[in-house]
Amino acid sequence: MRFEEKIVLVTGGARGIGAAICRAFAHEGAHVVVADIDLKAAQKTATGLDHQKNEHLPVRVDLTHKSQILKMVELVAKEFSMIHILVNNAGICPLTGFEDISEEEWDQVLNINLKSAFLCCQNVLPYMKPTHCGRIINISSAAGKMGGVLVGAHYAASKAGLLALTWCLARAYAQYGITANAVAPATVETDMTRAWGQAKLKQLRKKFPLGRIGKPDDVASAVLFLASDEAEFITGEVLDVNGGFLMD
Ligand SMILES: NC(=O)c1ccc[n+]([C@@H]2O[C@H](COP(=O)([O-])OP(=O)(O)OC[C@H]3O[C@@H](n4cnc5c(N)ncnc54)[C@H](O)[C@@H]3O)[C@@H](O)[C@H]2O)c1
Repeated sequence: MRFEEKIVLVTGGARGIGAAICRAFAHEGAHVVVADIDLKAAQKTATGLDHQKNEHLPVRVDLTHKSQILKMVELVAKEFSMIHILVNNAGICPLTGFEDISEEEWDQVLNINLKSAFLCCQNVLPYMKPTHCGRIINISSAAGKMGGVLVGAHYAASKAGLLALTWCLARAYAQYGITANAVAPATVETDMTRAWGQAKLKQLRKKFPLGRIGKPDDVASAVLFLASDEAEFITGEVLDVNGGFLMD
């Protein structure tokens, strides 16, 4: 029960990696806010979480709207009065080739994957600072370190941006006892990657020395470690969770 009494906000928490992160925190005693654009799925995920002494809050938020992010944070603050852990996980991943990326699609990917993390951090920090033990964890990607193998340039650029955001936060908020770290998975089996089709996933599997692509729980374990007391001296780190896909 490493996270008893901790308040955790997970964006994109309704499914895939986000849902696995919510389940893992709830299992270890945290109160979890499942924030997602898909309220029904968020409610379903929240209902399925471990409830012992902890309570969970599904929240609908479209992270492309600053006003909705502000409302979400206000709601969480009203319910729990503080936020210990923020996981910026929501993301979209179009596979569009470079010359076919429209300006609108570029903006949409950057808004959801990067700008929303900036806005969530900016609005959550006032509720995190008084805890003196805050944790920010950004879900980046191997694509943000090496360029996308299959995924679009906008996606890779957004995930690289998340790394720089992580380092800036780590430097600026260390004085408040807040750490900021990133997790960089390679391919993980979720709705996002299942949409690519089994043939592509089979091809990709061959690139993983450990012989399989990732599972959402692989990423959740890394997130929980970075959020734990054991990681209190780790900040500005990028933790690869990729089965050996990228070794740097
Ligand atoms: N699956 C992978 O292979 C992989 C690899 C590396 C990094 N990642 C990253 O991990 C994160 C989670 O990916 P996943 O595979 O679980 O994806 P997913 O598509 O299964 O889940 C993403 C969740 O984000 C939510 N979301 C999307 N747009 C939103 C918006 N505007 N406002 C609020 N919520 C929104 C969706 O409703 C969904 O519940 C993403 O940031 C992704 O880029 C995934």
